[in-house]
Amino acid sequence: MKLILLGAPGAGKGTQATRIAAKYNIVHISTGDIFRANIKGGTEIGKLAKSYIDAGKLVPDEVTCDIVKDRLNWDDVKGGYLLDGFPRSLFQAEELSKFADIDLCLNLEVDPALIMDRICGRRVCACGESYHVSTLGGKTTCAKCGKELYTREDDNPETVKARLDTYNKMTAPLIDFYAAKNKLATVVCGTKTPDEVFEAVCRVLDK
Ligand code: AP5
Ligand code: MG
Repeated sequence: MKLILLGAPGAGKGTQATRIAAKYNIVHISTGDIFRANIKGGTEIGKLAKSYIDAGKLVPDEVTCDIVKDRLNWDDVKGGYLLDGFPRSLFQAEELSKFADIDLCLNLEVDPALIMDRICGRRVCACGESYHVSTLGGKTTCAKCGKELYTREDDNPETVKARLDTYNKMTAPLIDFYAAKNKLATVVCGTKTPDEVFEAVCRVLDK
């Protein structure tokens, strides 16, 4: 299975991607995570990406496409993969179609009014787990690995506004792009919990 997970910032892409990858035994590839690992490692890509991520803008298309193209050549993706946060522009979608044959684009539709609280309340762990302060009961460490949780640098109100703006201008048109190819499925998240959203996602993927 070769999937794209599409959705606004805070739609729950990462939350669902972890579950989907585990259940369907496919590789989770998040361009956001790749950029953050490069920033942490002080690489040239990381230095370039940081200025765009801090401003809530897209990292240049060519750089991002090269990273994904290279990643999809690794052996571990032969059994399938899930692209979380890629493509994010029509240019990226056109490029992707030149080097990959995607089965489905799964669009997570979230109420925009929920996004700011979800993102600004998010706490993440270096192991990849993500939480919301409202469910942590004051705990500051990861339930899975015990490491200290932290807040992503781009999870502040000003950057979130810019990320939403970028999403609406650059990424939302991909909904029509994949619908026109008969490759779009939308899951409306409403006020469903992550487990309830996952059940709806599985119903789509099991078809
Ligand atoms: P990226 O890391 O992809 O960030 P994003 O798209 O802004 O999305 P988030 O990771 O913030 O949200 P999510 O949808 O994963 O939600 P999550 O599951 O964590 O990208 C970061 C930056 O990198 C971009 O701004 C850009 O600069 C750059 N970049 C990345 N890809 C790029 C590309 N292709 N091209 C160019 N630049 C690129 O959930 C959020 C919160 O909500 C959590 O607290 C979670 O616990 C909670 N939550 C989740 N589901 C539910 C639910 N059902 N009910 C209640 N709470 C929930
Ligand atoms: Mg994410």
